[in-house]
Amino acid sequence: MITGHLGRHLNRHCRRRFLTGCILALTGFMPTCAISTNANIAQDITQALELTPNVENGEKIYPLCASCHMKNGWGKKDGSFPVIAGQHRNVLIKQLSDIRSRNRENPTMFPFTDPASIGGMQGISDVTAYIASMAKDPNPGMGTGKDIELGKNIYKKRCLQCHGENGQGNNAAYFPSLKGQHHAYLLRQLKWIRDGYRKNANEAMVTEVKALSDEELDALADYLSRL
Ligand code: HEC
Ligand code: HEC
Repeated sequence: MITGHLGRHLNRHCRRRFLTGCILALTGFMPTCAISTNANIAQDITQALELTPNVENGEKIYPLCASCHMKNGWGKKDGSFPVIAGQHRNVLIKQLSDIRSRNRENPTMFPFTDPASIGGMQGISDVTAYIASMAKDPNPGMGTGKDIELGKNIYKKRCLQCHGENGQGNNAAYFPSLKGQHHAYLLRQLKWIRDGYRKNANEAMVTEVKALSDEELDALADYLSRL
């Protein structure tokens, strides 16, 4: 889990050149900035990261999210609500910010992303620290299981360089963990990423996903849901 220290560290590096250099400097391996965002969102993110999170307070705020993401943060197996438990804190903060600024369309959740309803930037800092500390779903919704080998091969070729050997992602680079996520949710996101509906998608990823058919995306999501 990420502490206020990394928040401050990121902030120092990012304040001036968030869009161009910071992620490059932190991860050392990306040819372009890993994060697709705009200046306002970047400011929101650095503000939330700068604050020292209070996990107990985050637990008190979490019931606001539990009506959809459930008490354990495991959402629903049919993928209507994703697993958020155990996701990297930087990723959670960025997604909240993207949804709030409509850089990611999510009309269902939009009203719940107003900082005023979550306890301001401190509330966002706290609730994301709490969610990141929750155990992931050990048994997420899966696909049919018929093309897992195909999914694995595509993953190794096109996805592993960012999302990691075991789909673990990377907090500092804002790469989401894809482990322990429902197949149906992953498949929906992949189609949206490919078809341009998910505006905040990383450009280099879009290039990889654009090359894939519905069947290949299904195989990928199935493989990922079993990691
Ligand atoms: C009214 C239902 C609802 C509530 C309440 C809600 N969410 Fe969501 N949330 C959703 C839905 C639906 C999605 C997935 C939308 C999609 O498919 O893109 C989502 C997606 C997310 C994501 C993106 C997950 C990912 O893997 O990228 C995050 C992070 C998130 N919610 C956090 C929260 C937090 C934190 C709260 C409480 C402050 C909250 N949500 C409250 C419905 C809700
Ligand atoms: C260049 C790095 C990179 C590559 C390559 C890449 N991704 Fe991603 N991926 C990202 C980033 C960054 C995000 C988060 C974008 C954002 O901020 O919304 C993301 C988000 C996602 C999401 C949404 C997760 C969620 O919780 O909503 C899925 C699913 C995903 N990637 C799957 C894949 C798959 C499958 C491949 C290979 C075909 C792939 N990615 C290749 C960087 C990458």
